[in-house]
Amino acid sequence: MYQEELKREVRELLRSRNAVLLAHNYMRDEVQEIADITGDSLALSQEAAATDAEVIVFCGVHFMAESASILAPEKIVLLPRLDAGCPMADMVTVEGLRELKRRHPGVPVVTYVNSSAAVKAESDICCTSANAVRVVESLPDDEIIFVPDRNLGRYVAGFSSKTFHFWEGFCPTHERMTAAGVLHLKEEHPDALFVCHPECAPQLLALADHICSTSGMYDWCRTSSSRRFIIGTEAGILYRLRLENPEKEFILASPALVCPNMKLTSLEDIVLALRSMSPVVKVPEEIRIPARRALERMLAVPRD
Ligand code: 13P
Ligand code: SF4
Repeated sequence: MYQEELKREVRELLRSRNAVLLAHNYMRDEVQEIADITGDSLALSQEAAATDAEVIVFCGVHFMAESASILAPEKIVLLPRLDAGCPMADMVTVEGLRELKRRHPGVPVVTYVNSSAAVKAESDICCTSANAVRVVESLPDDEIIFVPDRNLGRYVAGFSSKTFHFWEGFCPTHERMTAAGVLHLKEEHPDALFVCHPECAPQLLALADHICSTSGMYDWCRTSSSRRFIIGTEAGILYRLRLENPEKEFILASPALVCPNMKLTSLEDIVLALRSMSPVVKVPEEIRIPARRALERMLAVPRD
């Protein structure tokens, strides 16, 4: 009941503030339920760039709110939990990236959006898990610096004849999954297909029937004729998978697939953020301008 009151209050506040609520596919169920738009990192940055709302309430992690601020500087971007960060994004620093660029002069930097605005500002182009292969192939160069995700980088390199220089960053949530655990589930459910996110380690990707971004999983599982799936990404994805496919079964590949940062934002946090119009995420202009160039170059890469 209390939850219902909170949801009503969020909807009213969103209306009165002329705000839009964007939520990543990993958010808590009740946050996804009241969001105007849910999506993967690519869809949410496109939405932030296109929305008419004056305020964006970003239910996700810090780098996502930064991307919204970079693409929509005239809007107020609220991140209800300022402490919702991404450990993978924190694994690459501006100094570290500059050093890598010094070692490979003239080589373009492709930066996964799971990175700080300051790192994006040092990059040539961004990518998400949904478009990384296309982004890399859109570049004429034979060599690529890829940061920060070593797993996504190596996955993309498998589709390319270019030489890659990787950063050894990773997502601690996806890396908690084990191949032994997945093999055990496959044995228990021989009819199930295993679908996983490219942030997973190579030994997990080698077991996958399909590899894609979070939103890619909705499309793939919906259109697949299989009735059972082992899901290799963060638990929040199960909410919409089960809602959209009540006749299918979705088994999480590991109980450890919970990102603590993605679980921080509650309905109470959203109400408080909209009442107080804080915390605001605003990227300073000297970082925003070069970071926007890298994000806009990514958004300009044609879709398949
Ligand atoms: P996508 O939703 O873009 O697949 O990203 C996954 C992720 O880890 C976001 O933090
Ligand atoms: Fe970062 Fe991994 Fe959490 Fe995504 S799931 S926010 S990559 S720690």
